[in-house]
Amino acid sequence: MRLLLPQPRSLSPDDLHDLYDSGGNSLTRGGFVVSVDGGVSHAGGSRPLQSAADEASFHALRAVADAVVVGAGTARVEGYGPVRPRPAGIAWRTRHGRPAAPPLVIVSQSLNLDPGARCFSGPAVVVTCQTAAARRRDQLAEVATVLVAGQDRVDLAVAFQELRERGLTRLLCEGGPHLLTSLLTAGLLDELCLTLTPLLLGSAPQLLTEALGSPRRLELLHLIDGGGGVLLARYAVTAA
Ligand SMILES: NC(=O)c1ccc[n+]([C@@H]2O[C@H](COP(=O)([O-])OP(=O)(O)OC[C@H]3O[C@@H](n4cnc5c(N)ncnc54)[C@H](OP(=O)(O)O)[C@@H]3O)[C@@H](O)[C@H]2O)c1
Repeated sequence: MRLLLPQPRSLSPDDLHDLYDSGGNSLTRGGFVVSVDGGVSHAGGSRPLQSAADEASFHALRAVADAVVVGAGTARVEGYGPVRPRPAGIAWRTRHGRPAAPPLVIVSQSLNLDPGARCFSGPAVVVTCQTAAARRRDQLAEVATVLVAGQDRVDLAVAFQELRERGLTRLLCEGGPHLLTSLLTAGLLDELCLTLTPLLLGSAPQLLTEALGSPRRLELLHLIDGGGGVLLARYAVTAA
């Protein structure tokens, strides 16, 4: 693995922790793997896009996060489990005074989530809105912390503020495209970390689900050659 920009140097997988760490700064970052034509899944999941370099950045991004946020669609389709950092990630977190594992935060309007699902076998937060069925809310409250933000839609700004008040300030959003689009539209995304996989998928679900009101400019913060044609890019999302 080799850092290409801003200053070329070779990297070990452990170097990725320091490279992705935002220090004490609170931020919301997206972490996605995409094909060259912007596709995020093939045959129903993102596995065909993954590679050793993507896996290394995926785990490093998790290791430096206070919480991993996903839309309920991604949690359901990808069969999410609790966030379990690798030993190197746990060691990095311990050195930096952070708890061993970040909680998983699932955003859902419908609360169509199985309380027996694997994702609730570790620390989990469910973010929903007032109109979600009270019975489902009560069932999920037995396996997760349930936060209510917004009336008939989840108000992500309110929800993220509540997470920050609970000390979860460095948020990693792992998907999916609906949630990422909502975050961009609400002006809540600070960074986007993309693994660019050298594949063309044709008509596949894309990174974003709808047109943005105005194009968002990205500033390249670093670029890594992950080997085998895989590129890892970290962008800052600048003001519209
Ligand atoms: N390549 C990658 O890096 C990557 C990453 C993640 C996902 N994916 C792929 O993307 C696909 C899933 O995409 P998706 O767009 O359907 O997933 P998603 O954004 O994770 O899920 C959509 C669902 O999440 C909830 N949700 C999302 N945004 C919300 C908001 N602003 N307010 C309230 N609820 C919100 C809703 O759940 P309820 O229906 O429960 O109300 C909504 O139906 C899968 O094929 C997956 O493999 C790829």
